[in-house]
Amino acid sequence: MEPVRAHITTYGCQMNRLDAELVAERLRASGARVVDDPAEANVLLFVTCSVRAHAEDRAFSNIGALKARKRREPGLVIGLLGCTAQQYGDRLRSRAPLVDVVCAPGRLAELPQLIQAARTNRAAPVVALDPPRGATHTQPDRVGGAEAFAAADAALDEVETRRPLGGPSPGHAFVTVMRGCDNFCAYCVVPNVRGPERSRTPSAVLEEVRRLVGQGARQITLLGQAVNKYASRQDGRTCDLAGLIEKVAETPNLARLRFITNHPRAMTERLAAVFRNVPAVCPYLHMPAQSGSDAVLARMKRAYTASEYIDRVAMVRGVRPEVAVASDFIVGFPGETAEDFEATLDLVRRMRFSHAFVFKYSPRPGTFAAEHYEDDVPMAEKRRRNQVLLDLVRKVAGQENRRFIGRTVNVFVEGPSPHPNLHPEKGTGSFSGRMEKVPVPFSAACRGWLQLRGRTPGNRIVVFDGPADLAGAEVDVEVVDSSPLTLFAHLAQAM
Ligand code: SAH
Ligand code: SF4
Ligand code: F3S
Repeated sequence: MEPVRAHITTYGCQMNRLDAELVAERLRASGARVVDDPAEANVLLFVTCSVRAHAEDRAFSNIGALKARKRREPGLVIGLLGCTAQQYGDRLRSRAPLVDVVCAPGRLAELPQLIQAARTNRAAPVVALDPPRGATHTQPDRVGGAEAFAAADAALDEVETRRPLGGPSPGHAFVTVMRGCDNFCAYCVVPNVRGPERSRTPSAVLEEVRRLVGQGARQITLLGQAVNKYASRQDGRTCDLAGLIEKVAETPNLARLRFITNHPRAMTERLAAVFRNVPAVCPYLHMPAQSGSDAVLARMKRAYTASEYIDRVAMVRGVRPEVAVASDFIVGFPGETAEDFEATLDLVRRMRFSHAFVFKYSPRPGTFAAEHYEDDVPMAEKRRRNQVLLDLVRKVAGQENRRFIGRTVNVFVEGPSPHPNLHPEKGTGSFSGRMEKVPVPFSAACRGWLQLRGRTPGNRIVVFDGPADLAGAEVDVEVVDSSPLTLFAHLAQAM
């Protein structure tokens, strides 16, 4: 049998991006090659997301489009991995008949064997699912069942700790601190597909961080669905996220430390204090509000009110005023009235978010909301609210970004800008909807510079011209212009 040449397509959140790295590492360790071009591959893997119908549909339609190729190449193996695998389980076959391997998030370490089994027996798909949840949204206070994941987690830990520094961009690595979720927000499929909350031990996290930093990582992002609920019990003592951050930050040569995503309910004064006491911690807080209406928040089962959310942000800004706060919002949640939506707009005006993701509510099978509430906001109204909120988010972010013009900021360079040479209409310094192409200045072009993209400590995107080999480094740049999503800058020192 010819050796495996696998191609991986990834959808969904940062956790999936890390999972895709683990899949690649696991395959390489088994002797397979991981290729960039799907046409070269004999194994096509899709790391899928089920959080909204749209994310699922994209994966299913990309897999469906492989029908003709599969007929031409009967040996081609198609694997559907991650959250959608667990969401559909055995029912996946009717939705995606071309799939040969179905593998849930907790079982990814077994992938080489699963692929091998699928290649030797082509009759039926090979299915590896996680244990069903010990609790459901109908009994959220009876959560548990983490024990059933212990063996699979240990296997994943080993792959994660051993993997080489790849990461989302040069010098930046994601590190899992918590798997699963026990919050059962009414709309959310994640607790069903990622299983119960499990915190990794501080020693496992530290070992991984040291290895990654030893290989050149300068920025680490700690990952968990509600990362600030982290709690590891060892020898009768509990380590919380603040304690873990203090330990991780002692790693020599680690410049920037982030942790996402924070749940407002679990934000404590102890955690807020790390923004002041731990220099490596970036002034960036991703803490989704989801809505500004107490009635909607209650129906979402978010367990806080808008004013509690405001208090938690104030607690963090109280210790470090320049913290950039980012949020997620869902518009058109069942029963969301015009007044509820107005309350969300108010929250955005008050909180001055540096960034916010806006999603249209998508009912997900198996969630409390899908089973108990009617999806009663018409799609046209969801679209309208989505646009209105997005426009406001951009307006506020644009105003906040403008305050950076004339300042020197430190940028962690990710690499070449994915959309080079775009600049908001010159002179206005604000986003007008019209973008014009600005050629790289002659002096920069003749030195072989390109437009680079990086992030400020507060996670704002910065573009500037510079040499490509700055990727993974930190440089100071002077901000000369801005738009709602981007700061435009020049290198502060001549190179
Ligand atoms: N664990 C993270 C969120 C993970 S899902 C947290 O709690 O912050 C990412 C975002 O998708 C959520 O914050 C929410 O805004 C959105 N989302 C989740 N389920 C959704 C649904 N059914 N419809 C629309 N948006 C949804
Ligand atoms: Fe979903 Fe809520 Fe868990 Fe986030 S905290 S993953 S929104 S259930
Ligand atoms: Fe999607 Fe799973 Fe992440 S459902 S958002 S990929 S945890």
